[in-house]
Amino acid sequence: GAPVEVDISKLEPGQRIIVEWRGKPVWIVRRTPEMLKVLPELNAKLRDPDSNESIQPDYAKNPTRAIKEEYLVVVGICTHLGCSPSYVKIDDAHNLGGSWKGGFFCPCHGSSFDLAGRVFQGVPAPTNLTIPPYMYVNDTYLLVG
Ligand code: FES
Repeated sequence: GAPVEVDISKLEPGQRIIVEWRGKPVWIVRRTPEMLKVLPELNAKLRDPDSNESIQPDYAKNPTRAIKEEYLVVVGICTHLGCSPSYVKIDDAHNLGGSWKGGFFCPCHGSSFDLAGRVFQGVPAPTNLTIPPYMYVNDTYLLVG
């Protein structure tokens, strides 16, 4: 399939947009400084914090799993059995109680992922969510694929 062009100029902080690439949902989330600050604090709770066993291009194998840390680009398919996780914003996670700082939650068998798509320990999903190949055409356009 052809790469998909995505206009991110109207994406608000904390917002997610979904595009389709090769029949799969790809999420683009504009992460706030608050969302990014949480990531390194979670490493001890994650199954594969450094993404050694997960799928991503080399340029996204870093602590934020992104080319530009502000924008997460990730395939929105659970690595367990392929359900579609929901996006749980930080504020909503707070309202759910507990210490979860938001991320993605798969309703099928309860896998949870952080705001870099990294899987938590003790859930069925074996690896982090997949980062697709992508590049920036300029500051406001992405090419996925
Ligand atoms: Fe997501 Fe099983 S498909 S937890």
